[in-house]
Amino acid sequence: MTEARGLARQPPHGDRFDARFRVVRFGAIDSTNTEAKRRAAAGEPEFTVVLAGEQTAGHGRRGRAWQSPRGNLYSSVILRPACAPIVGAQISFVAALAVSDVARSLVHPASSVACKWPNDVLVDGRKVAGILLESSASGRTLDWLVLGVGLNVAHHPGVGGAFPSTSLRDECAVAPDVERVTALYLDALAHWYDRWRAEGFAPVRAAWLGRSLGLASPVTVRLEREPLEGRFVDLDENGALVLELASGARRVIAAGEVFFGASDVHAARH
Ligand code: BTN
Repeated sequence: MTEARGLARQPPHGDRFDARFRVVRFGAIDSTNTEAKRRAAAGEPEFTVVLAGEQTAGHGRRGRAWQSPRGNLYSSVILRPACAPIVGAQISFVAALAVSDVARSLVHPASSVACKWPNDVLVDGRKVAGILLESSASGRTLDWLVLGVGLNVAHHPGVGGAFPSTSLRDECAVAPDVERVTALYLDALAHWYDRWRAEGFAPVRAAWLGRSLGLASPVTVRLEREPLEGRFVDLDENGALVLELASGARRVIAAGEVFFGASDVHAARH
């Protein structure tokens, strides 16, 4: 694990990272999230960004491995909002908006870019990025939060997973380079994070709902024990999914995986 370059830099294409970001780059590393957590625990400041060309132990939600070949974006940002963990969890929606801004600005105008609960971004129904928030709290307040984003720029996993995937290269007329995608992402993240800090969850929730996949549609949510079927009708004030059951009752789901359509329902049961 060798640190290639440090500190904020001016990327190509005339873009400039927001001056608050302090960027630390690695050619290869176990996981940018793991490195950012080590640095956060050692007291490194908010807006430290760990970037890597590839990861040897990239990980995703539910302990899944995240394939991390060279050519994609692997980033983890240390954030230190002094708030309760449940409030800090809203940052996954902040990140989804930032990633969807990037995808929207690059993919073919006829393609749809959507946010899927809890924190995926899809292009024409295929996952283009994954978001992983990890945090540490003392008592009721977060000490730090690490926002990990893996964005499929040049590669994506093959078929066979529960969800189809894609890359920006497959969705754009001209393949974007990782540097440009990184600059766009950090810019969009700074924008939405500032908005969240200044105005709270309301504008983030409204923007996310406006871009969400399957609002008002039938959905199956895979929970710990069993799938639950209903209609996705809202996002509550903490970012939980609000499901309307056939009985008309509403269930608030804090964690789970969402599937739309018949084949997805099959996947939800397995
Ligand atoms: C998911 O399961 O969808 C979330 C995947 C998150 C992957 C990113 S890649 C950069 C950062 N480092 C990691 O090990 N994971 C996150």
